[in-house]
Amino acid sequence: MKIKNICCIGAGYVGGPTMAVIAQKCPHIKVTVVDINEARINAWNDNDLTKLPVFEPGLDKIVKEARGRNLFFSTDIEKAIDEAEMIFISVNTPTKTYGKGKGMAADLKFIELCARQIAKVSKQDKIVVEKSTLPVRTASAIKNILDHTGNGVQFQILSNPEFLAEGTAVDDLLSPDRILVGGDTTQEGQNAIQALVDIYKNWVPSEKILTTNVWSSELSKLTANAFLAQRVSSINAMSEICEKTGADINEVARAIGMDSRIGPKFLKASVGFGGSCFQKDILNLVYIAKSYGLNEVADYWEQVVLINEHQKQRFSDYIVSKLYNTVSGKKITFLGWAFKKDTNDTRESAAIKIADNLLSEQAYISVFDPKVSEDRIYADLDYLNSRSSKENRELLKVNKEPYEACNNSHAIAVLTEWDEFQTYDWEKIYKQMNKPAFVFDGRGVLDIKTLEKIGFICYRIGSGTKL
Ligand code: NAD
Ligand code: UGA
Repeated sequence: MKIKNICCIGAGYVGGPTMAVIAQKCPHIKVTVVDINEARINAWNDNDLTKLPVFEPGLDKIVKEARGRNLFFSTDIEKAIDEAEMIFISVNTPTKTYGKGKGMAADLKFIELCARQIAKVSKQDKIVVEKSTLPVRTASAIKNILDHTGNGVQFQILSNPEFLAEGTAVDDLLSPDRILVGGDTTQEGQNAIQALVDIYKNWVPSEKILTTNVWSSELSKLTANAFLAQRVSSINAMSEICEKTGADINEVARAIGMDSRIGPKFLKASVGFGGSCFQKDILNLVYIAKSYGLNEVADYWEQVVLINEHQKQRFSDYIVSKLYNTVSGKKITFLGWAFKKDTNDTRESAAIKIADNLLSEQAYISVFDPKVSEDRIYADLDYLNSRSSKENRELLKVNKEPYEACNNSHAIAVLTEWDEFQTYDWEKIYKQMNKPAFVFDGRGVLDIKTLEKIGFICYRIGSGTKL
């Protein structure tokens, strides 16, 4: 089966970039990305490419090339479903905030709504592709809804999890480590797998395209994220031992990373991992393990999240303790609010929790982030419900310029590893600050020796410091 028309439900961080790349690489396929969020669709259609709702290096060029040619963004969901032979479901699957599994299980209400809408609208056979990250065996629930429409339409469900990381999404999509496609073992299932594989073959070498059954594919995605997050929690747990013993986590990471069995990637100690997925996916895995009575397995993976929480807490505790046990009335500057560099995404960013902790200690905070908007930062704080939105706006200010953000500050906390922070005139910053002037580098990115020569009192996560 040759696919000529694709619909993707969900125009977020995955749906937007993924479909833009498919459209760029497959000009013979019409790709329509739909969403219930009209503002988001309007932003995807904005002629000013700086207004795209997702910031990713290189994405604007791809959208510019394909949009209007064979890439379309629309709120007309029913029309796009009706026209498509293949439908990707790329909606959000957040942690449940209510009922059974609250705080752990994945909330599948958006997925179910998509399945129902596909069932209602479809008039001819379709392939439905799970692009969202889902608990193992979700495909059977989707199939169940689709198979009971009573209108005789046949559906094949594929699992095709996305492995892109934000900030490098375009490169990850253009040159993926692998593409994973899971489907039914029946002939129809294998034909559906082949139809999707044929799309990726337009730019991905065949040896990088893996096919498997649906359940292995769904579980591989959760497993990959759990392993990656576990590495961050492992290095962060060691960073605390480094600080107590005078060892340096960067040296330790270099030494262990040269062991080819361990490898050098994902060994950067930090103030804690953020992002919309690591915590959510591990908690989902923990919930699945518990629901099968695998309590030891559940406890093992839960510890990855607990260490991450501990890392954020101890960073803010450290700031308070080094600023002579009180930050009340002091100004603390945050460099960075995004959960990592090169993205405007702030979901689960460590900066949010650290700001909350310091505001509870009556600090004043000023934030500079090159890509995150003021509205987003206040929305993140308001969402916590720790204080009124009026108080949030009084205690925390957002600056459009880094030097202004550092003016009269007692301490700087580096919370995102934006490259530009290394290029700042740190002597100028030092002169503007209250003395003694502190730098707390939660990302291990600044040249601490130079900063100390200027006069800063420095702390870098996971290393012996003068403090
Ligand atoms: P997102 O919140 O950025 O985007 C999801 C979009 O789906 C939203 O715009 C929302 O309005 C839309 N939506 C929800 N229900 C809808 C419906 N019924 N009809 C139409 N639109 C609907 O989420 P995201 O970051 O793109 O993540 C999507 C999925 O991909 C999640 O399961 C996530 O775990 C997974 N994933 C995310 C990443 C990442 O880097 N963000 C990477 C790999 C996998
Ligand atoms: C992660 C995975 O890397 C992707 O493969 C996956 O598709 C995605 O989750 C998902 O399912 O959503 P992402 O969260 O976008 O991607 O970004 P990462 O580069 O994995 O970083 C996650 C967090 O870990 C960031 O806060 C980052 O700063 C932190 N991190 C990462 C470290 O603290 N140290 C490291 O060495 C690496």
